[in-house]
Amino acid sequence: MEIRIKKSDGVSETGDVFVVGVYQDKTTFASSTFSKKMDDFLGGLLTQIAKEESFRGKANQVLWARSNDAVRSKRVLLIGLGKKDECTLETIRQASATALCAIKQTTTKSVACLLFGDGLDVRERAHAMIEGIRLADYGFGRYKKEKKAHIKTFDLLVEDGRDLLAAKKGMELAEQFVKGTLFVRDLVNTPGLHMAPQHLVDEAKLIAKNNKEIKVKVFDEEKLKKMGAGGILCVSQGSDHPSFLVHMTYTPATKAKKRIALVGKGVTFDSGGLSLKPADYMMTMKCDMAGAADVLGVFAVIAKIAPKVEVHGIFATVENMPSSKAIRPGDVIEIMNKKTVEVLNTDAEGRLILADALVYATRQKPDAIIDLATLTGACVVALGEEISGVMSNTPALANAILTAAASAGEKMWELPLEKNYRKLIQGDIGDIKNIGGRYGGALTAGLFLQEFVDKTPWAHLDIAGPAFAERDINAYERKGATGHGVRTLLKYLLSF
Ligand code: BES
Ligand code: ZN
Ligand code: ZN
Repeated sequence: MEIRIKKSDGVSETGDVFVVGVYQDKTTFASSTFSKKMDDFLGGLLTQIAKEESFRGKANQVLWARSNDAVRSKRVLLIGLGKKDECTLETIRQASATALCAIKQTTTKSVACLLFGDGLDVRERAHAMIEGIRLADYGFGRYKKEKKAHIKTFDLLVEDGRDLLAAKKGMELAEQFVKGTLFVRDLVNTPGLHMAPQHLVDEAKLIAKNNKEIKVKVFDEEKLKKMGAGGILCVSQGSDHPSFLVHMTYTPATKAKKRIALVGKGVTFDSGGLSLKPADYMMTMKCDMAGAADVLGVFAVIAKIAPKVEVHGIFATVENMPSSKAIRPGDVIEIMNKKTVEVLNTDAEGRLILADALVYATRQKPDAIIDLATLTGACVVALGEEISGVMSNTPALANAILTAAASAGEKMWELPLEKNYRKLIQGDIGDIKNIGGRYGGALTAGLFLQEFVDKTPWAHLDIAGPAFAERDINAYERKGATGHGVRTLLKYLLSF
């Protein structure tokens, strides 16, 4: 599907479907300024239909109408935007996605749609609409024999020619945000059968090959042994697939303002190891490399969006399997910084591989480290399936991430790194243990990671809930991988 930005009032568009966003109004449909204008164009038709069908313009309400030659498109689709003073970029994103889903039920080839959300910034409106449309259009097609018909063109109409440039700028950036997000969705949706650590390494190499601004270093098991990366190696020892630590570097064209390290958990399948997961919990554990996928998603588009910061993308990737070679509950291992860990539960493997990756990241002397990991079920218990937990040793960094998340439309919430809970992971025979008590599991996991970043400003994003949707969340985040995290990171990197 090609999305284009055009100057047009919409009335003379000749495509299959003409989409109009409509604000909700307390009294009558027609008295909302925007819809009144459309109403005039359509000769009162819409008012009449809307009345008959009790369409009130509530957020995401849809109404199909025949255009009856009042406009030249074959059909008109009204989309509710809710109350005008409550209309946000997220409303626009959702309404655009809802429109696309409704249109996809038909055999439509061409769509024209007036830009939603007048009053808001044009660039942001275009950006939000393109995200809504493209993310809603996504489907993971790799294993589907039957391919669906496609909408060919989607024209976004700008009524005022002076807005054209801003809308086009919004579109350019949005297309990159979408590309990064969909790249992550494809990786995370790919099952363990076709997504071993080597595949993530190959993706990193391919990205570096295609972008002269990006370099990549790959540490295989032989090198990891020399480096003393006991966390990565102990998790991977039960699997037939070798593990890796990957380090990508993006260098901006002009002098970098900051150096940022992004660190991802890349467990391509988490069976739990000898502390085997119950079948129901294992079913979706191909998603356990979503953190690493987010790092790759950022690097897939970073050269195009060209932030003014040096970015280090680091991920550890392993498969967590039980076998006679697997690490046993009770074993003690040593992380790259020589701290020893009692591995009491082999299913708490993410923090082990991240420990090495964080030590490595810290040695790059970055101004900030952000790690992303599908780390704990406890975080999902705390915040539900749609919200990530953010833990940080630096309030300003946490705030910057929360701000970026809010503007990207990704839900995140801060959780505390409570010092008094540190005792819960105090080791008996080693320095620390890899599980805390029965409660506060997201926080003890965060405290565990903190042991490996020294004083570097660092934030940990536990994306266990939102990375992979077990049911549809909204019109643009359907069951399956969501790509959650990438857009927040991109917004954050562009904030410098
Ligand atoms: N990969 C899981 C966490 C997870 C749970 C991700 C649900 C996505 C959805 C992680 O490795 C894990 O198993 N954590 C354990 C830790 C426990 C053993 C301390 C958990 O959360 O149960
Ligand atoms: Zn696990
Ligand atoms: Zn895991």
